[in-house]
Amino acid sequence: DIPSLAETYAEFFPIGAAVEPGQLAGLKADLLKKHVNMIVAENVMKPDAIHPTEDSYNWTNADKIVEFAKTNGMAVRFHALVWHNQVGAWFFKDPDGKPMVDETDPAKRETNKKLLLERLDKHVRTIVGRYKDDIKSWDVVNEVVEPGDPDGMRASDWYKIAGTDYIETAFRAAREAGGPDVMLYINDYGTDDPRKRDILYGLVKDMLDKGVPIDGVGHQTHISVHGPLVANIIESMKKFAELGLDNLVTELDMSLYAWNDRGDYGDDVPSYIVNRQAERYRELFDAFKANKGILGGVVFWGIADDHTWLHNFPVQGRMDAPLLFDKQLHAKPAFWAVVDPS
Ligand code: XIL
Repeated sequence: DIPSLAETYAEFFPIGAAVEPGQLAGLKADLLKKHVNMIVAENVMKPDAIHPTEDSYNWTNADKIVEFAKTNGMAVRFHALVWHNQVGAWFFKDPDGKPMVDETDPAKRETNKKLLLERLDKHVRTIVGRYKDDIKSWDVVNEVVEPGDPDGMRASDWYKIAGTDYIETAFRAAREAGGPDVMLYINDYGTDDPRKRDILYGLVKDMLDKGVPIDGVGHQTHISVHGPLVANIIESMKKFAELGLDNLVTELDMSLYAWNDRGDYGDDVPSYIVNRQAERYRELFDAFKANKGILGGVVFWGIADDHTWLHNFPVQGRMDAPLLFDKQLHAKPAFWAVVDPS
């Protein structure tokens, strides 16, 4: 019998995994129950899933995840109230059905912005209001920073219509609906990159100065066996901790491939890659433990290699193996590195 991840890390921080409702039965559920004490919906709490049209919410799948967590004494994270992907187009259409981004008349642009922020406010209050007693950790906005876009802010419909006011509106509504004890996060990938980190830092600092209730930074941490440096990941967390913020690792996985590598090992993954993955996971968790004071939790984006968003992405037909358990749900070298580090 193998050790439990969550028990091994009990004195440090919670360990989580992203799940789909269909994984909450059978062997996959057993694996989750044994190893994690926090879950997050991989898809079913995203805007298009939970609020597909202006007048309809779909709670069924989200409720399944909350129920499973309750039954098994796990915490739940909410991912995500606001994103530019997986969001209904209805948010961004004016009452005549015209895309708000196409509006050129300044007066109408002002009216559109107001309408978008009203819709957002309602979206956030309705969802946070429903789950505030069961969900204490919230990704309020996801991936709003993009160094390649003007001002370093992602040029999403949200931003093009409302500027950064959408971020402010989302956090304020979440705090008002959730009360003082919900933890509100700004979540992003690539936060180890100094350029992106500094833009995110500047944004968060401005927001905090304006009294916007941000409690922490979510670092997705979709990394690879080839990078980035663990030291950069930790340095970024330290910077945000200086602002008094919590850090969370929200979507951890470690691809076998560098992000721009279009190759494919197929069934013959070289053993040095498998070993490197284990050694890098070991280094990462050693660093996490050493910094437990500024790290509120570590959530994997999945649990076993049978199910990962990295299959067929970014290379169609290519399988990946970024997690601690293999396709048969057996512990990999990376698992042993994490439960028995240094
Ligand atoms: C991914 C899911 O894992 C996939 O199933 C879905 O098809 C696309 O989204 N960053 C995020 C997550 O914030 O929401 C993404 O999840 C992975 C990248």
